[in-house]
Amino acid sequence: MIARLLHAHRNGALDTDELSGLVVDLLIAGFNTISHQLSLALIAFSYHPHQWMLLREHPELGEQAVNEVLRYSPTATIWRHTAADLHHKGLLIPAGTPVHLSAHAAHRDPHACPDGDTFDITRGRSTPLLAFGGGAHYCPGAALARTELAEALTALASRLGPPRITGPVTWRPPVGVSGPETLPLSFHPL
Ligand code: HEM
Repeated sequence: MIARLLHAHRNGALDTDELSGLVVDLLIAGFNTISHQLSLALIAFSYHPHQWMLLREHPELGEQAVNEVLRYSPTATIWRHTAADLHHKGLLIPAGTPVHLSAHAAHRDPHACPDGDTFDITRGRSTPLLAFGGGAHYCPGAALARTELAEALTALASRLGPPRITGPVTWRPPVGVSGPETLPLSFHPL
């Protein structure tokens, strides 16, 4: 993708500021998100070791496990500005207000996902996810992210026992890309 951006720069379609902005955006969007989502996955599995063992025994559940991790503990919040005045349950949000949409809360809304507080990698993909946003700005790296996470989780589960948190976890702020800043972990012996 960066090679294509460089090509567009050589052809004059992007100026140098646009090129460097896009490359930096791509690196941040493609690295921070994955590393924090993987950390959040390991935290979820540390509280649900039987689900880890299920993934170990059934690596074909890898894609579903990723879906459940994205549902149960999504790393990203979605940013929008209201285009018009918005009335929501008696609250007026004036036009032009920056709004953070919590994928975390939406994914546990009983209307969207019955029993949403349960972490279950066999749940399937019936719950609509906001983990990658929506509309014109839907994450262009979603397929790559799903593949990387599935590879990482199935590889770890095939070699190691369930993760265990071994010390204090420190957290990034709960907006933007959230998740642990430090996550001391060990893995149970098999
Ligand atoms: C678990 C991993 C990831 C998560 C949870 C994630 C999540 C998101 C979210 C929520 C958005 C905003 C969507 C919206 O506003 O509707 C976004 C945008 C974006 N993501 Fe990802 N992402 C991930 C991985 C990646 C990867 C691997 C790449 C690239 C290699 C990437 C590149 C981008 C870019 C360039 C945008 C901006 C799109 C735009 O504004 O049109 N992301 N991502």
